[in-house]
Amino acid sequence: MVAAVPVIAIDGPTASGKGTVAGLVAERLGWHYLDSGAIYRLLALAALKRGLDLTDETGLAVLGRELDAGFVDGRIWLDGEDVSLDVRRETTGNAASKIAALPAVRVALLARQQAFCVAPGLVADGRDMGSVVFPASFLKIFLTATAESRAERRYKQLIEKGLAANIDDLLRDLQERDARDASRAIAPLRPCEDAIVLDTTKLSIDDAVHFVLNLAVQRGVVPVA
Ligand code: DC
Repeated sequence: MVAAVPVIAIDGPTASGKGTVAGLVAERLGWHYLDSGAIYRLLALAALKRGLDLTDETGLAVLGRELDAGFVDGRIWLDGEDVSLDVRRETTGNAASKIAALPAVRVALLARQQAFCVAPGLVADGRDMGSVVFPASFLKIFLTATAESRAERRYKQLIEKGLAANIDDLLRDLQERDARDASRAIAPLRPCEDAIVLDTTKLSIDDAVHFVLNLAVQRGVVPVA
């Protein structure tokens, strides 16, 4: 019998720090990393570029299956173009949140996400990693933080990338996005029953990374460092 590839699922709202924490945990373990939000963002960007209506569920699902996307050395590619900066824009994130509410879109992107599950292991971040995409994950974490601290973090990230940002607009957008992500009928944003909730409002990135790594060691799937 072939042993299953171990997965750590890190879900949570936007700007909760899950991407940074998941990326660092993957680096420490020498495992693969899936930023599932980037896949929704890529599809949204492709749709915007093609002038596709963001409510065209069938058209978006077809595009989602055909998408020419690449993740190479931390850069994100779409149709042979480096779109690493464009996928991070708030307009892209908001469009991603809208199309992510469409059931056929979520189904279309499922296999693409599951393809990241390759030995020796995977750390996956998103909204439904523990509940839908990798329900057999041996460790499920739900990272959260207050809306105000997440808006502040997002503001710093965007400014560091040289992108325009306004803290009040960010807070409003983030609250709207949380409400949309949490209230949708399919795979809503909420901790699954077997997830461990970690509030990072007062935690450093390092603390959060250690918390996850310690749990992974306790569960006996990764060796003590
Ligand atoms: O994590 P993020 O902000 O990059 O994600 C962008 C949007 O994509 C988010 O508002 C909701 C959607 N998303 C999702 O529905 N399911 C995922 N697993 C990841 C992201």
